[in-house]
Amino acid sequence: LKKEIRLLLRILIINPEFIAKCPPGCQDVKYHVYGTDIYASFSSVCSAAIHSGIIDNTGGKILVQKVASHSGYRGSFSNGVRSLSLPRWRESFLVAGNVGKHQVHSQAAQRTFSVFVCLTSDCKVDLSFLIDGSWSIGKRRFQIQKQFLSNVVEALDVGSAGPLMGIIQYGNNPSTEFNLKTYTNSKDIRNAIEKIPQKGGLSNVGRALSFVNKNFFLDANGNRGGAPNVVVVMVDGWPTDKVEEASRLARESGINIFFVTIEGAAENEKQNVIETDFVDKAVCRTNGFYSINVPSWFSLHKAVQPLVKRVCDTNRLVCSKTCLNSADIGFVIDGSSSVGTDNFRTVLQFVANISKEFEISDTDTRIGAVQYTYEQRLEFGFDKYSSKQDVLSAIKRISYWSGGTSTGAAISYASEQLFNKSKPNKRKIMIVITDGRSYDDVRVPAMTAHQNGVIAYSIGIAWAAQDELEAIATDPDKEHSFFVDEFDNLYQFVNQLIQNICTEFNSQPRN
Ligand SMILES: *[C@@H]1O[C@H](CO)[C@@H](O)[C@H](O)[C@H]1NC(C)=O
Ligand SMILES: *[C@@H]1O[C@H](CO)[C@@H](O)[C@H](O)[C@H]1NC(C)=O
Repeated sequence: LKKEIRLLLRILIINPEFIAKCPPGCQDVKYHVYGTDIYASFSSVCSAAIHSGIIDNTGGKILVQKVASHSGYRGSFSNGVRSLSLPRWRESFLVAGNVGKHQVHSQAAQRTFSVFVCLTSDCKVDLSFLIDGSWSIGKRRFQIQKQFLSNVVEALDVGSAGPLMGIIQYGNNPSTEFNLKTYTNSKDIRNAIEKIPQKGGLSNVGRALSFVNKNFFLDANGNRGGAPNVVVVMVDGWPTDKVEEASRLARESGINIFFVTIEGAAENEKQNVIETDFVDKAVCRTNGFYSINVPSWFSLHKAVQPLVKRVCDTNRLVCSKTCLNSADIGFVIDGSSSVGTDNFRTVLQFVANISKEFEISDTDTRIGAVQYTYEQRLEFGFDKYSSKQDVLSAIKRISYWSGGTSTGAAISYASEQLFNKSKPNKRKIMIVITDGRSYDDVRVPAMTAHQNGVIAYSIGIAWAAQDELEAIATDPDKEHSFFVDEFDNLYQFVNQLIQNICTEFNSQPRN
């Protein structure tokens, strides 16, 4: 089975055309798809097939054909899958169904491959291995660790179109052995690994994670921006410092942390462990995917294939930054008298429908809300709720205020009370919803917000003034401001707004 998985990864990279047998469940939002009809090659092939209507969520056989790079992958919502936009990518594929004998002529497509996960078609990741150089590991096991790394590197098939990797050795302090751009093939990396001397010292993993977050994934060190950032931490026993805080910051920067722990604490050693459950406190998600526990150094070789398969399963690297998991979104909601109780409910439903589309947690997207009339009220800040369920209930509980309409003051208030508390590595997105002309000036507050890095969207309903909507919106206005004549038609803009947020996100380097 392991062999088969590796083979499949290679086939996906090399073959211009092949048949994939998709498992059920690829409709899941965690499997990202970029494009419509033509998909960027790091999309999940099976989710793309669902998006095109070729199969449904129960899975099935599809024909995948590689095609040339493309500019302007257009996102859309279709068959329950939301695909994202992307300005350009180096390779694309098409999917076709009806995979009977008559449809398939080419030799390459004669073979069928079972896809165990809703795989992407290549392993383009920026990888950092944190290796344990502490004295406690000993000479012999340090050698086993190097052999393991060497095997991983061989299985990965490092290259500038695929995975790149660097190594950091930690002891008391971490140091970079080589970074992402030092070597571009497996052979050179294996030679370099051979020459790494053990540095000794303690096992300060937390310090090493901070170092990685601050220094390793810099553009100057070869970070490619469009490839997921992955850190694999090798730990003999347990760390000698705390990892929780450093890991949280790394996750917020979009780094996917994996742990490989070897010979963990025995029952009678547990009282020596500084931070209990350090693995769960550090890894990207505590679902088992991001941690491998090996009982003995002498069975470490068995972890090579599972680890390679996981770090290459780019659709499951959920800590990578995406348009859905990396923003602080602040809603600025008009509660003036002209809205009315019923329409106010509709507005809240709109706010909830937008929020629902995001991945919400304290390290992913966070939501905040301000209601305004002539005055302003903080309904809840970004740090108040850390689950989607809690956010949706809080939105439902917002009570209608009723009063005047000072949109300018509301934007200033949101800047200070919401966005001043946004985290530096989050995208600040403000969504202003109003149904009328403001009593005060919106231009200066909006401009100040834009200058502070807030991306502003305006949603105008009924009597809202076009010139104000445009002043509030970030440029280009066409993509950041919306107008709808009736509250009952608000729902039509949910998809468009998400789409625009994602398009804008995808036009930037991702990490
Ligand atoms: C928010 O930031 C601005 C600009 O840095 C500053 O002038 C203002 O005092 C801050 N407000 C709060 C409440 O921190
Ligand atoms: C919100 O979503 C629900 C369920 O899909 C839909 O019935 C409703 O019309 C939507 N409302 C708005 C304002 O988006």
